[in-house]
Amino acid sequence: MPHFLDINKTAPADLRAMIDQAAAMKTDRTGRPKGAPDDDQPLAGRMVALIFEKPSTRTRVSFDVGVRQMGGQTMVLTGSEMQLGHGETIADTARVLSRYVDLIMIRTFEEDVLLEMSDHASVPVVNGLTNRTHPCQIMADILTFEEHRGPIAGKKVVWCGDGNNVFASLAHAAGQFGFDLTFSGPPTLDPERLFLDEARTKGVTVTIERDPARAVAGADLVVTDTWVSMHDSQTTRERRHNQLRPYQVNEALMAQAKPDALFMHCLPAHRNEEVTDAVMDGPQSVVFDEAENRLHAQKAILRWCLGV
Ligand code: CP
Repeated sequence: MPHFLDINKTAPADLRAMIDQAAAMKTDRTGRPKGAPDDDQPLAGRMVALIFEKPSTRTRVSFDVGVRQMGGQTMVLTGSEMQLGHGETIADTARVLSRYVDLIMIRTFEEDVLLEMSDHASVPVVNGLTNRTHPCQIMADILTFEEHRGPIAGKKVVWCGDGNNVFASLAHAAGQFGFDLTFSGPPTLDPERLFLDEARTKGVTVTIERDPARAVAGADLVVTDTWVSMHDSQTTRERRHNQLRPYQVNEALMAQAKPDALFMHCLPAHRNEEVTDAVMDGPQSVVFDEAENRLHAQKAILRWCLGV
């Protein structure tokens, strides 16, 4: 079953084909490849369930629009509306949904929920974010980098801040797409070693550099994310702010990277916390291209999953 669960679980050739197809579909607002007929609707007759146990703007809207552009239909479900893991097991929910829909996209908290869903679904399952990884975001980021700067293989990517779920998928991508990756953040917020070690086994250089200015030297791309999550307490927020303040991406830090380095953020951003307005709105920022590219990258992921 062609589930899209994580970037490291998908073959590099398939990932490359998805990025190339996404670029081809990004020709105009209809989302059809150049030269495709007006009635090109690869998802015609398909129903996609979009399950959200956590809030979302980009993921929700981009999947919904993407499915509709390709002629399919969507059903958006929230955790509170369903019996997910409460009234019945995740496995039984997966079996039932598989009788109604052609694909399940799920955003959830624990990775185990995603894995139980995919183990028991008889239709493809797509990871729309868990506490551990966010592969759809990083596919959009690869597409964004390459449309601005060409192949990402061999480039230097630097992450500043919290070693979170988005970083984890970036580390997966480093191994699969062949770029070097530096993590720069406080030791208390290091990513799991596993993510770094796995990328290294694929022949790329992965480093931890505590000094953010040294980390971004020679960078082709600087990436960050919010310092706190919605569910963090006030005490946790203050502690994280104190730890992460030296890793803010501002103009002084970007000046240490290559002159043509890009800046990315998966959004939503907390402006003037992890990134300043000057960088977010500056000439090196491609954050809104990234947001748009969620749509195009995910359409290619859906087509790969469904074989259409
Ligand atoms: N970047 C991202 O996943 O955004 P949403 O949480 O709004 O979906």
